[in-house]
Amino acid sequence: MSVQRRLIIKGGRRIEGELSVQGAKNSSLPILAAAVLCRGQTEIYNCPKLSDCDAACRILSSLGCGCKREGNVVCVNSSAVCTSDISEKLMREMRSSIIFMGALLGRTGQCRMSFPGGCEIGSRPIDFHLDAFRKMGAKITEEHGYITCSAAKLRGAKISFPVPSVGATENVMLAAVLAEGSTEIHNAAREPEICDLAGFLTKCGAKIDGAGTGTIHIEGVKSLSGCTYTVMPDRIAAATYLCCGAITRGEILLTNTDPASLGLVVPVLEQIGCSIYSFGSGSVYLNARKTLKAPAMIKTAPYPGFPTDAQPPLMALCSTLPGTTMFTETIFENRYRHVSELKRLGAKINVEGQVAVVEGVSRLSGAELEACDLRGGAAMVTAALFAEGTTKISKICYINRGYEDIEGCLRSVGADIRCV
Ligand code: UD1
Repeated sequence: MSVQRRLIIKGGRRIEGELSVQGAKNSSLPILAAAVLCRGQTEIYNCPKLSDCDAACRILSSLGCGCKREGNVVCVNSSAVCTSDISEKLMREMRSSIIFMGALLGRTGQCRMSFPGGCEIGSRPIDFHLDAFRKMGAKITEEHGYITCSAAKLRGAKISFPVPSVGATENVMLAAVLAEGSTEIHNAAREPEICDLAGFLTKCGAKIDGAGTGTIHIEGVKSLSGCTYTVMPDRIAAATYLCCGAITRGEILLTNTDPASLGLVVPVLEQIGCSIYSFGSGSVYLNARKTLKAPAMIKTAPYPGFPTDAQPPLMALCSTLPGTTMFTETIFENRYRHVSELKRLGAKINVEGQVAVVEGVSRLSGAELEACDLRGGAAMVTAALFAEGTTKISKICYINRGYEDIEGCLRSVGADIRCV
């Protein structure tokens, strides 16, 4: 019988110190999938030790790739991809395994995998992905919960997304780099992770222009070689740790981070009253030892808008600030599941549809909580650092999907946190 581990946090300690930020989960996953396209050896540096990355490595192994991790370096050898099927068990481990579809189509012209279905934060359809692959010449059938795609010849195409989708943009990029002719992606996602994936593919020999803008051009090439690549720092982990510094009215220096990728997170924290300094060398310093106040409105939006993934930890912070904040979540329909848990700590939050109104309180007190999803779990950790007394958080497997050793990281900057 597996014993569920819990995080035990005694709140009220000021966060003070320096923290090196992990590599980006949301870059590592598409880059691991992209390794399928390369004939030869790929070395991926700064790949965080996360259960989602482990799941991606298990998929690579099941496809016949050599896949070995040493510390934060993952080496993939894709010389001998021997199947295009991903088992249902592996698909269930991680919703983002859908990203292997573009890579497998590009490499082998076919793939078969179970439908990823919905997840904790919403229904998460994949229609944009499938429509785009059809336009590129793939035949797609959906039967008994399985999707089968095949393309005798994958052709470049003009793809236009109804709204920017990170996963669909990445999937099309993966399929297009080895397709015949050119592909144009309109209304492409502009997230920094798209640029990171483009950086990796370009290093392997792909021809990609416009990553980071709304229009991406890809010229198919005959083959890709392996390369050595360093994954960008995780901007959502960085945003979470900045919120942890701010909620304890502390001071934190984040290293191995990319200030530019934080986008609107920095101006919002400044508006709250934190002082933030970015250093070109990849560091961000936050000082929250002053009077803070709630921002009036936060609306999530595709990059460069405020990231939906940073909404839960920011909400935890706002729940302790004088004033009222109106949050509007525009990306996922079920992204307020942390609210009921924050309320157990004493937060005053009212949710109606996509809007959450947070009335700041001066005191939170420890309680027993259950993580509901990755970023919701991070919001609970953030709030627990402020709450008087002890907070116990269960179902931390959700948190471990995206934060590498959150307990050790926060302990190193002064938090009273342990995992039991
Ligand atoms: C990625 C991130 C996730 C982040 C999200 C939005 C990874 C592994 N995950 O998720 O952390 O919260 O971007 O920044 O990178 N949509 C459709 N049909 C589709 C695809 C998407 O309707 O085929 C909709 C979604 O329901 C959502 C919106 O498009 O409302 C954006 O979702 P998308 O950008 O695709 O999110 P993911 O790539 O799944």
